[in-house]
Formats: sequence, structure tokens, C-alpha cells
Amino acid sequence: MNPEKIRKDFPIFQERSELSYLDNAATTQKPEVVTQTVKNFYEKKNANVGRGLYDLSHEATEAYREARIKVADFINASTPDEIVFVRNTTEAYNLVAESLDFMGDIVVGEMAHHSEQLPLRKNANRHGKEVKYIETENGKLSVESAEKLIDHETGLVSISHMSNVFGAENPVDEIIEIAKAHNAIVLLDGAQSVPRMPVDVKELDVDLMAFSGHKMLGPTGIGVLYGKKHVLESMEPYQVGGGMIKSVSKESASWEDPPEKFEAGTPNVAGAVGLGAAVDYLNQLDMEEVKQHDIELTSKMIEGLEEIEGIEVLSPEGSSLVSFTADWAHPHDVAEVLNQHEVAVRAGHHCAQPQMEELDINGSTRASPYIYNTEEDVEKFLEGVKEAREVFKR
Ligand SMILES: Cc1ncc(COP(=O)(O)O)c(C=O)c1O
Repeated sequence: MNPEKIRKDFPIFQERSELSYLDNAATTQKPEVVTQTVKNFYEKKNANVGRGLYDLSHEATEAYREARIKVADFINASTPDEIVFVRNTTEAYNLVAESLDFMGDIVVGEMAHHSEQLPLRKNANRHGKEVKYIETENGKLSVESAEKLIDHETGLVSISHMSNVFGAENPVDEIIEIAKAHNAIVLLDGAQSVPRMPVDVKELDVDLMAFSGHKMLGPTGIGVLYGKKHVLESMEPYQVGGGMIKSVSKESASWEDPPEKFEAGTPNVAGAVGLGAAVDYLNQLDMEEVKQHDIELTSKMIEGLEEIEGIEVLSPEGSSLVSFTADWAHPHDVAEVLNQHEVAVRAGHHCAQPQMEELDINGSTRASPYIYNTEEDVEKFLEGVKEAREVFKR
């Protein structure tokens, strides 16, 4: 990994040479190859997909299909038909919550992002199901708690592969094994893991997984729901309309097979093509190296933070991002001082209010590195936090 070289591929760092962007868990910056691919698509290949009988439409359809193949290969899906393009992780979760017919209760992590737990809670309310929460232990899902909660009454287990609050890889293998032993359907939130570590859906043996393109160098407005073929086939359409039907009469309608069944209306073709370019870019880097790079920079941030008085680090060792609180300032104030140093971090509840409540905090400051961050960014970040301590100490 050579972040100095990588930075050159990202126009924003030429435009803002002093920027230390450490809010990658929220969204990543885009390499020129991604924005150019989107531009090229609109300028040279733009047409609607799946319907046209002319060359240009065939080319656009082929580009859309190629993007699906790239995404499928990236997560080792069995076939591109297991890849449904959606807007983002949030939409993937809403799709599953609306369309998946399952008996039994729902088990979800208390650390779950609102986008993960709210659609499932809506489903539970509608169908009179119970929602049970796997506890967090030292920043990770507790296997012991999962073991107590998952039983023959469990229908769906939804877990975050990597929490956006703590940044540690969760013990998902063990929890998936427990879920499978009880015949529960497993839904994985891959929003943070797919961008920063190798993820293999076959090896994990998950039934469904959601992630967002914009968190992995791709454009906004494009995300993915992965589903095992038979699971997707068992699901009802989420939205109905053009592009997803086999036939329609005044009395009835029949649906296309997945993935088209879940992609009503004109899809975000340019977004998918851009995501394909992002996947190409990540493949050329090696995801194991991406993982190690994030962990290394995070370890250095954790080490530095632990030397500053009044700071409590919430992320366990080996995390890919760091969340912390300071007893001398509100997380927003820390982020504001960092902003004055041109260090961009996130502060607040990180869309995980139940977890914040459980920790009895009003929020945390979070720094999340990615492929283009350097040790210099880490130093600037630590200097900024030290200055915040000087400003706010009583
Ligand atoms: C773990 C996790 N799940 C879900 C989401 C929701 O992603 P999106 O806003 O792209 O739908 C996020 C976004 O921060 C996340 O970090």
C-alpha cells in the first residue's frame, strides 16, 4: 500500500491539499477513474437498459450487466443474479424487511445502525414479532449473548460485520453457526466491512448481505443487496412497476426472476457502472492490504489518544476505526477543533442511539481512515485532539 501514490488518483486531494479526511466510515472520496467512468457512460453509452432494440441500448445493458458481474466476483457470489442493485444499505434493509417472509422473531445487535434495526423493527411491529438485542462486549457482538437469544423461535438474525461505532470485526462466524443450527435466516450488514476487508459470502454462508457503493469509492445512490438465489426467489417484490414483470394483464401480473424482480423502474445504471470501476480500483490494491493499512493507522491513533488525559477509547485493539470520548468536551467540540486543523472526523451518535444509551454517553468522536490516509494525517489528528484538550481543559 502506498497512500501517497493513491492520493494522486483522487482529485479532491489536489483541490484541498491540506485536508486530512478521516470520515471514511460515513463516505469515501472518489478516484478520478470512478468519476470519469460515470462521465464516460453518460457521454458515450447512455440509454435505458434491458428494453432497447438498438446497439446503444445493448451497450448500456451490457455495461450494467458487467457491473453486476464485478460486484458478484468481488464478494464471491455464486452468480451475478444474486446481486440486486439498490440505492444503499438502508434500502437493502428496507427491501428485506418488506419482502422476506419468515416465521419467528428477530435477533439484532444492540450496536446495529438505525438503517439495520429500524426496518426490521417495523417488520416486527407489523407482524407481532419480538426483537431481541445481542449485547456488546468490549466493542464486539457478544457470542455468549447471541447464544442465549437465538433459539428455535428465531426467524432472522441480523448482524453487523463491522460496527460503524467501534470498527472491530465482529465474531460473525460463531454467530452465523448458532443461527444456522436453529435454521434462522442470516442477514449481514456489510456496509463497513465490504469496503475495508476481504468479504466472501460463500465462506461466511450468509443468506443476505447489504452494503453501499459510496463507502467503497463508488458513487452515491448505488448499493447492493446480495442474496442466495433460493432466498431471493422466495421473496416478494419490494416495489412493482416497469422492468420487473414477465407479463401484465388487467387482472394479474407475474414477476421476472431475481435480480430484476427487485429492480422496478429505470435503475441507476451510471451508478452501477461507477461502482464497477470502484471495484476494479480496489481489486488492484488487494483487500487484505487495505484491511491491514486501516488497522495500522487506527492502532497509531489509539496509541496516541490513550496518552491524552481524560480520553476513553471505545474501539477495541485491531479495529479499523477509532471512536472515543473525552471527559473535558462534547464530541462536537472536539470535531470542531479538528475541523480548524482541516481534519474531518465524525461526532455524534453515529445512527446507533440504542448503543449510545447502553454505553450511557451522548455520542463519540470517530476517526475512520482509508486507503489514501497517511501517517501525517494521524499526526495532524493527534495534534488536533491535544489542542482541543488545551482549549477545553478546566
Ligand atoms: C454499519 C452501517 N450500516 C448501515 C449504514 C447505512 O448506510 P447508507 O447510509 O449508505 O444506507 C451505515 C452508514 O453509515 C453503516 O455504517
